[in-house]
Amino acid sequence: MTTTAQRHESRVLFASRPALWALLRAGRWTGPVRRVPRVGWLVADPVLARRLLTDHAHTSVVGEGGVGHLWAQVLGDWVTELFDGRGHAALRARVRDVFTEASARAHVDRVLAARLAVATRELSTGAELDVADLARVLVGRVVADLLGLPLADDGTARERFATAEGLAALALGTGASTALDPATVATARDLVARLTAGVADEWAHAGPDRLLGRCRELGLGLRETEGLAVLMAVAGTGTAASAMARTVALVADTGTAPRLLAEPDRVPDAVREGLRVSTPAPVVGRHVTADTTLGDARLRAGDRVLVLTHAIDNAAGGFDLDRPYEPATRQLWFGAGRHQCLGAALAKAELAGLLHALLATGRPWRVTGRRAARRVLVPSYAELRIAVS
Ligand code: HEM
Repeated sequence: MTTTAQRHESRVLFASRPALWALLRAGRWTGPVRRVPRVGWLVADPVLARRLLTDHAHTSVVGEGGVGHLWAQVLGDWVTELFDGRGHAALRARVRDVFTEASARAHVDRVLAARLAVATRELSTGAELDVADLARVLVGRVVADLLGLPLADDGTARERFATAEGLAALALGTGASTALDPATVATARDLVARLTAGVADEWAHAGPDRLLGRCRELGLGLRETEGLAVLMAVAGTGTAASAMARTVALVADTGTAPRLLAEPDRVPDAVREGLRVSTPAPVVGRHVTADTTLGDARLRAGDRVLVLTHAIDNAAGGFDLDRPYEPATRQLWFGAGRHQCLGAALAKAELAGLLHALLATGRPWRVTGRRAARRVLVPSYAELRIAVS
């Protein structure tokens, strides 16, 4: 039976791109792996998905179909090494201790606590709060802080968010091919220049307590740091804001808010379920670099594969605080293998920070109005108004 929460989620997916919605629905019936003409291979099984994403001998993110292919056209061929070669392994090894749970919590406290306290106060006085807008402001602040850009007010944070989001949106229309036309490449380079305007200075002067200062101390050059900065801005903007608004909606739509209020120590479960059900990166693409098999399928070098993460994560059912950890999917919403999300701890800390701020009103929230975002890369709410009872 489809619940109210599932209906709202379905609308969010449909509004973002009807073709994505159709692809994910098809994933329910295609079987574990199936070839679809002009789209490529679809993978809808958790075990095969993990096998593919961890098979670095036969797949890559830098060929046609992978996200690295987009970036090589925008930033230059050097990113190929940074994205999937030995350079990638070295980069991941170096920045591992920068992206821990503890550093993520400290980061969120430093950058978001004051703004979240304002949201709690506003909501407590009976005012409506647009959580979708708040999420964009919060994520814009985090991204600006990461990239060493000045952070004045909510308006600036929205602008930062929009720039990063604009860059990510250039991937729209790459459903059939990840080759970009020259006009798109030029627009992308302009957005990259705006996003990285503060990186050189931050990289040169920031202390080791700041991410880019830490990159310098770890021996990362300016070009690598700029590449990492762009990647973080694009990968960690729309996804995190989407997870925040959709989780807040899911908690209300499933009647979970009173329970969470009574048991705030269940916030990590709400975060996990919100991430699982929303799966803000609903499809993860790979390029096949050498012939191989996946289940019954024979993949050929040059093929393109789409892992339907959203369909796989949602096969277990709707948002449920009591749903136990699912070993088959684990954290598939953050990918798997050597490209697994670098910002996972940060995303979880941002989401937990927001839920705690809403719980701090001492009253459960309900949704008073909503509008799904249309034609966006990451399905999300354009507007999600809530109030406390
Ligand atoms: C709810 C929020 C988020 C979700 C659902 C998410 C999801 C993902 C997924 C699925 C991948 C793997 C893509 C692939 O294998 O092709 C990924 C990679 C990545 N994410 Fe996230 N992400 C989120 C937030 C963030 C944040 C906040 C940051 C950093 C500020 C970030 C930085 C990255 C980076 C740098 C990569 C590439 C890692 C690599 O290739 O080694 N993400 N993310």
